[in-house]
Amino acid sequence: MSNLDQKINQIKRDLEQQLLKTKDLKILDALRIYFLGKKGLITALMSELKNLSPEKKRQLGPSLNILKKETEEKIQKTKEKIIQEQTKATSLKKVNFDVTAYKTDTLKGNTHVYTKFIEEIENIFLSIGFDPYDGPEVESDYYNFTSLNVPQNHPARDMYDTFWLNKPSPTDSTKATTAEKLPTSLKLRRTSRPTSKKNLLLRTHTSPVQMRIMENNKPPISAFVIGRAFRHEATDATHDFTFMQCEGLLIDKNVTLSNLFAVSKKILQTMFQKKELDIRIRPGFFPFVEPGVEIDMRCPFCSGGCSVCKKTTWLEVFPGGLVHPNVLKFGGIDPEKYSGFAFGFGLTRLAMLKYGINDIRLFHSGKLKFLEQF
Ligand code: FA5
Repeated sequence: MSNLDQKINQIKRDLEQQLLKTKDLKILDALRIYFLGKKGLITALMSELKNLSPEKKRQLGPSLNILKKETEEKIQKTKEKIIQEQTKATSLKKVNFDVTAYKTDTLKGNTHVYTKFIEEIENIFLSIGFDPYDGPEVESDYYNFTSLNVPQNHPARDMYDTFWLNKPSPTDSTKATTAEKLPTSLKLRRTSRPTSKKNLLLRTHTSPVQMRIMENNKPPISAFVIGRAFRHEATDATHDFTFMQCEGLLIDKNVTLSNLFAVSKKILQTMFQKKELDIRIRPGFFPFVEPGVEIDMRCPFCSGGCSVCKKTTWLEVFPGGLVHPNVLKFGGIDPEKYSGFAFGFGLTRLAMLKYGINDIRLFHSGKLKFLEQF
């Protein structure tokens, strides 16, 4: 074997060894220059050819050309392999990003004050044997007004600034259409359901659900509803155009105002965690109750008057009364046999009292400073 042959074999071995170890493109380029560059090993061997005899040239020339070509190909293949591995490594890094990794300065979420209060109230009602119900937020004139003893042109409609979804027709029916009636029990349904397309509005209170409960159940009935109500009102610290109400309804034989007072007192005592919490009753007017009352509670925050109760020691909390016989009739219940009480309090306003919130608009503001307090 000639000296040149030995050199060619040595170069092949060295190249193989070096390429196996190389994982970096820069090093690979340095190898390329080392073997194939102007002053590289293979280029140097090629220049040695000219000193050989023509016969040797013919013999070794092609071997050197093959060596050069193979070296170029091997370097190119290694280059592709390195690029492939590097791409795979970067995408793996992305895939393996640990989304659960703990970051010390992240903000922790908490339950919205509304949700907390709603859960509290639900538990109070459930603990005294009331069942949860809900109805649609998009209501018909019939359920929101007519069936609650507020016919067309009744002045009591002015008490409720209404968001009408279409222009109310002057010939509102005095009976629910089949489309308006919900086919099944509403128990625990929280979603809005379709009603007739006629005289639609955003419910101004949760009282229409009373009617839907009566239509779908026979007495004895003990039900509560927590839901949103909407009024076309200018907002201020105590008025919002969307707010929560809670409705209570109990229908049975011989239900009287004393039952309403006892239940209201129990609810308020539990809500404000005061074993002794006085209530007082004033007359109030709502077309769907007779007699109607306003229930006040003794201010739970002071004994002699404070800014919350405006130094009166009393807070207005529950409007209610005995269900009007006309409303019972609309609901398919015989007022000669049964009586009932209903009340509907502003859940948002009570939450303000309970948590000392001075502006109702904060509830929907999404302000973190406000939300973080609860
Ligand atoms: C009613 O809505 C009657 N449906 C309540 C009722 C039910 C009476 C059953 C009798 C029998 P009123 O309009 O007063 O009543 O509203 C009840 C409560 O909702 C108010 O006491 C108040 O706390 C709250 N409320 C009314 N308007 C707003 C408003 N714009 N923003 C926040 N809370 C409001």
